[in-house]
Amino acid sequence: MKYTMSARLRALALAALLPALWAAVAASAAELPHLRRQGDATQLIVDGQPFLARGGELGNSSAEPGYLHPFWLKLRAMNLNTVVTPVYWNLIEPQEGHFDFASIDGLLADARANDMHLVLLWFGTWKNSMSCYAPDWVKRDTTRFPRARDAAGTSEEILTPFAAVNRDTDIRAFAGLMRHLREVDAQHTVILVQVENEIGMIPSARDHSPAAEQAWNAPVPAALMDSLQAHADTLAPELRAVWAAAGHRKAGTWAEVFGAGPAAEEIFMAWHFARYTDAVAAAGKKELALPMYANAALIRPGYQPGQYPSAGPLPHLIDIWRAGAPTLDFIAPDIYFPNFIHWTDLYTRSGNPLFIPEALRSIDAPANALYAFGARNAIGFSPFAIESANEPGAGYLAGGFDLVRQLTPLITARQGLGKTIGFLQEAIENTQPQQQRLGHWIFNASFERNAPRELADGLAVVIGTENSALAGDHRSGAAPAGGLAIELGDDEFLIAGIGITVTFTNAEPGWQTGLLSVEEGRYENGQWQHLRWLNGDQTHQGRHVRLEPGRFTIERVKLYRYR
Ligand code: DGJ
Repeated sequence: MKYTMSARLRALALAALLPALWAAVAASAAELPHLRRQGDATQLIVDGQPFLARGGELGNSSAEPGYLHPFWLKLRAMNLNTVVTPVYWNLIEPQEGHFDFASIDGLLADARANDMHLVLLWFGTWKNSMSCYAPDWVKRDTTRFPRARDAAGTSEEILTPFAAVNRDTDIRAFAGLMRHLREVDAQHTVILVQVENEIGMIPSARDHSPAAEQAWNAPVPAALMDSLQAHADTLAPELRAVWAAAGHRKAGTWAEVFGAGPAAEEIFMAWHFARYTDAVAAAGKKELALPMYANAALIRPGYQPGQYPSAGPLPHLIDIWRAGAPTLDFIAPDIYFPNFIHWTDLYTRSGNPLFIPEALRSIDAPANALYAFGARNAIGFSPFAIESANEPGAGYLAGGFDLVRQLTPLITARQGLGKTIGFLQEAIENTQPQQQRLGHWIFNASFERNAPRELADGLAVVIGTENSALAGDHRSGAAPAGGLAIELGDDEFLIAGIGITVTFTNAEPGWQTGLLSVEEGRYENGQWQHLRWLNGDQTHQGRHVRLEPGRFTIERVKLYRYR
């Protein structure tokens, strides 16, 4: 229907609508960032909308506003919408009970001026196992604030989780921080909070302080035993195996229930770390109920508890952390290893929402991000020490995050509903196409990690033969390769990313598949903008869809089948 309105009528109609509009704005302003289920995904809702965090975590010593100030432009240029930033306990509580939130207020002001959200990392009792961010007055008073001890009884710069005073002192500071946020952050600049950082025991698998020894020889708390029994069918396989190997007992000391050895020591510490962290998180949420999580340093292959930061929120301990820290909304991996698919699988296998607060700041980061959003329903992805990013990584990240920005409404509308997939090479030696089903079609994706030679005849590139000097990364010769696909309709898809070539097979045998159209374009304000039709050499005469290496693109593809 087509009709016109006089200016007066339009003004009247707007005036009638205003109260409702204001009410909607006020309601979403009042609503705290929170998590919401959609299908089998968990989404982060910020101001009423599902939010995908295009993040970057600051280097450990870069979160003071004066130092960070000149970097904001660079963070914006990389298309970030979220800065993941430490909050230092020693800086906000320099004297016991006296708080100074100037650094937080400065970060909030700069984040808002740059249209960014913040994720706060509470560098409280523990930061990478150690207690290096405890204020001086805590560090110096080892009588009042007891330390963990190794097996020889030597004191470490690690506050023991077996002292209520350590926990309660941390609680007072963290609750103070969250109370301050409640007072100064009505606009929800802060969307998530990490409680502590990479908790874990190293170099001994467990604390041997007197209080720890006493707890180690006590029975496993009934709350944990009850939880393990209630969830016996869904326990992480590694935990189930440890418990079964020790006889599947329903009560006893830690060594009796989980067997004497490092695995039992790790479970013991995980429970006590989780209880401590839960108390801190709960006190914070009482002041401001933002979603909260704990992060973990991952395990190198073959390492035993004590050789890696043990007992942190790791996938094989997720049931212990869930039972001990129910206040936390999820656990999060810091992924610096190349087997990105493996770790994102472990962190989502039991329904844990995926947020990656730290990722290796390599040229692969944007491809990993697209995979995480497309294949794992991720809430956010965030390379580490982002302010130090330089070329070519910074440019690639900007390109990948630009695609995420354009596609956020399309991705979030489909998360958890089986309508998105991700593409990423499992390992460099995997040269067979990665096969995945989306709707009625099988997508067969191959990866090109090098920029192609300029080929006069537009010949399809044979993977692995390209001239790496053109790739942009002159150190390794490699460029990122990966992406995601979004189902728009039965036969219509978006494929977004870099360095991938996709062929299609109909899931029903006996049919051939053809390309009806392939179109390159962009989303501007949610509207598809045509750039060009891809055909001829660009689709290998109708055989495939190819997203060039070295450049992030979105292609819209229509398929048909014939025989
Ligand atoms: C993981 C930690 O969580 C970060 O704070 C930082 O120390 C990095 N490692 C350094 O690689």
